[in-house]
Order: sequence, then structure tokens, then C-alpha cells
Amino acid sequence: MTLDISTTIGNIKLYSPFLNASGCWCYSYKELEDMRHCQSGAYVSKTITMLPRDGNPEPRLFYDVNLSVNSMGLPNMGYAAYTHYSLTTKERQKPFFLSISTMDLKDTHQMMNMIAMTHLDTNVKGVEFNVSCPNIIGKGQMGYDIEQLKNFLDLLSESKLSEISRNDIAIGLKMSPYFDKYQFQTVADIIKDYPRLDFLTCINGIGNGLVIDNVKEESVIAPNNGRGGLGGSIVKPTGLANVKTFKRLLGDKVDIIGCGGVSDGMDAFEYFLAGASAVSVGTQLLRETPLAFGRLNQELITIMEDKKYASIVEFSNKLNIDEDIKIETQKRKEAEQNKELEQIKKRNAYDLSYAMC
Ligand code: DHB
Repeated sequence: MTLDISTTIGNIKLYSPFLNASGCWCYSYKELEDMRHCQSGAYVSKTITMLPRDGNPEPRLFYDVNLSVNSMGLPNMGYAAYTHYSLTTKERQKPFFLSISTMDLKDTHQMMNMIAMTHLDTNVKGVEFNVSCPNIIGKGQMGYDIEQLKNFLDLLSESKLSEISRNDIAIGLKMSPYFDKYQFQTVADIIKDYPRLDFLTCINGIGNGLVIDNVKEESVIAPNNGRGGLGGSIVKPTGLANVKTFKRLLGDKVDIIGCGGVSDGMDAFEYFLAGASAVSVGTQLLRETPLAFGRLNQELITIMEDKKYASIVEFSNKLNIDEDIKIETQKRKEAEQNKELEQIKKRNAYDLSYAMC
């Protein structure tokens, strides 16, 4: 059996469904080159602001076997440096996605238009707008502010970037983690109105976590009163639920990149079942370096061989029966039973009146 682990994000083809989560192994030229040459299917930059930023004071990142917590504060080399990188990356064997900050909408608008102007001379095949950074001191997440989110999407749909063909650039959003049913519905209703969105990445870190070093009796990170975005296996159930819910609400309108707690092939397989088309790796990439991608590809191939799947589409979004579908099926059954009951009653009444004649 020939086994194919390729996938697509929008109309962009990836030869492996794994990529780095923005923020992990993607700050410097050296890290980006490591990513370009490893066995991931694509790679994403650190979230970019117009001007370079140093970010928050150290210590600002911690990880162990269970989790990660960070309050980096958007350190990055600035838009010009990442554009320079993408212009000089001549061997275009792998799609490169830019993660773009939405912290300052004037800057974001300018970056949208500049990406549109330069994209043909670069290996940029996707733009992921980060509407969910949990670490900007004094700023809430756009993903939790519906009006702000709408304003941003209006800006995006009027930008030159939205005029670029889907075959050339996939456009998506890095989403906040949601926890409430009505929140999902509200956000999905907004997203439905914007035709030029190709993908959602679900989820960003769960914001404002506190991880305590109980020997030193202090938080493991310094900024933001010791609070930061959580990642690692502890966030996987929330990540899976966000992928599943947005896939159910939005169907084929967007592809979903699953993100949160992927450290082996089976984690990825679960994200595909929930509805993801690709999977990004964050905390595990910090632990293992980009060599992780060779292992992850191999583990996914072994799972597919064991389960006799030849391609990812055969099991993507195929989690066994939705709760909602179960309820609908139950209701339909009850309606059918009621109808039958009515018919029996009618027949009995008829029989009775016939017998009395
Ligand atoms: C940072 C953290 C994030 O979770 C993110 O999506 C972008 C930036 C940061 O603190 O640098």
C-alpha cells in the first residue's frame, strides 16, 4: 500500500502535515534555516511586529515533561528582517508562513500590503494573523473581543493581501482557546462572513497560567506577575475540543491546524480525527529540536499502516459520531415512534368503529 502523509492548508500543499508552532524555533535566521531543512511540511516565523522588539524580561520561558509556560512579550527581529530572510531563501522547497501581530492595526495593515507586494519574490505561502497573544502587558486578546476581531477582519478583507489568489497565499488566524459554547458560536458566525480566510490555527497558549517553583517559592517566570501562556500535554484536551467545535461549525469553509500538546504521532492522529488538516508542534519542539519532525512523520506513518489508512483525508474529521448527531438521531427515532403510535391509535379507532357497525 502506498501511504501518503501530504495535506493541504487552503490551496497550499504540504508534503508532511507537521509544522512548528509560531514562537518555537523561528526567531533567528539560524532557527528558520533549521526549520527549512528539517522534515516538517511547512514552517512559521515568530510573530512579527513592524519594528524589532526585545520582549519581556527573563526568565520568561519554562518547560518540563508536562507543560510549558511563557511570557515572551513578542521578541522578534521586526518585519524588515523577516522579509529579508524570505527574499533570500531562494531554494523554495518548503512553504514558509509569516505570523503577523495584530497588536497595532496601523502596522498590521501596512504589513498586509507589503506582504502582498513582495510575495512573488519570496517563499511565503501563508500568513497567520495572531489574534491571540496572551502576553502583551496592558492589552487583552483580540480573540476575546468580538468588536476588535470584526474591525481587524474588515481591515484584512479590504487589504491588498486579500486580493492575492488562494493558490499563492493561504490566510489564517491563530485563535485564542475558547471554553464556552456560545463563544464558539459567536466567533464562528463572524468568521463565516469573511470568504478570504483559508485556515484557523487552534489553539494558542491558555493565557495567564501560574507555574510555581515550590523550592524557591516563586513563579518559574518573571513578567506579568509570573503569569504566562500554557502549552504542552495539559492543553491537549482544550486544543482538541476547539478544533472539533470550529470544524463542526465551519465545515469545509476553513482548514484547521491543530496546536497544543502534540508530542507524538498519536497526539497528531487525535487532532486529525477531531478535524485538523495539519498539526503544529510547540513545547515538544523546544525539548527535542527540529529533529522531532522525522520521528513524528514516522510515527504517523506507522499508525496509518496499523489502521490501514492510505491518506490523511480518510480519517480527518472522522471522530465517531457527534453528540449533536446522536441527539438528532434520537429525536428522529422518537418522532418516528410517535408517528407509528398515532397510526396504531387511528387503526384501532377504525377497527373499533368497524366492529360496532
Ligand atoms: C507570544 C506568545 C504567544 O502565545 C504568541 O502567540 C505570540 C507571541 C510572546 O509572548 O512573544
